[in-house]
Amino acid sequence: MRALLQWYVDAGVDEAQDAAPRNRFGLPRQAESIAAPAASPPPAQPPSPSAPENVKSLDAAEIAAACPSLADLRTAIAAFDGCALKRTATNTVVGDGNETATLMVIGEAPGAEEDRQGLPFVGPAGQLLDRMLTAIGLDRRAVYISNILPWRPPGNRSPTAEEIALCQPFVERQIVLVQPRVLVLVGGISAKALLEKREGITRLRGTWREFSPAGMTHTIPTMATFHPAYILRQPSAKREVWRDLLAIQKILSELGV
Ligand code: URA
Repeated sequence: MRALLQWYVDAGVDEAQDAAPRNRFGLPRQAESIAAPAASPPPAQPPSPSAPENVKSLDAAEIAAACPSLADLRTAIAAFDGCALKRTATNTVVGDGNETATLMVIGEAPGAEEDRQGLPFVGPAGQLLDRMLTAIGLDRRAVYISNILPWRPPGNRSPTAEEIALCQPFVERQIVLVQPRVLVLVGGISAKALLEKREGITRLRGTWREFSPAGMTHTIPTMATFHPAYILRQPSAKREVWRDLLAIQKILSELGV
């Protein structure tokens, strides 16, 4: 049974939809057609895929811009109903750490443990992130840590481009409110989203770039590096990450931090 459950979790099936399992393969044809109506009138057509997301994205941008503090932003994100991911998540996960930090780290989205605890980077990848920060003399509590998405995609699937665009104003507003001097983007999702690049993380990592979120008048030195979850799967990536960490340590010491 344990092996079977693990197999489900590995396949991304980690949410119960009903109290009791249903054998959908065993449903009579009539019942099947209830689950997937063939002849019934078509449901109301959703508008074109980009239009509603644009509208919601504008809403998120407006809501975020109207928040004068992180506490307000946290409340506003928790009340925001424009992203379907919220419906399958247990908690809204915003930022954690020092709200006036010099260094801000941005990941992708909460995983299972983050969703349970309502805090970013507290699962196995988070524990490695803590050790990476310690290696360059930083305590996690001195840093502000957040994600592109405040809700866990079901089964840890990759977020869609629409979900990323929809939620991005929230993380950009956190950057404006924290005012970090240095940004670190861990993993391809946050690097590509914020740097507006199409290249993968292997190409984006390791060089300083300038990033300016909406509502900020200056740019912030920004380094992309591999995601700790990737390093756990691919320990050979540690060498490059160590180089990136040393570059981050150097810029922080140049800034007098
Ligand atoms: N991975 C992320 O990108 N963010 C988290 O908070 C946890 C795992």
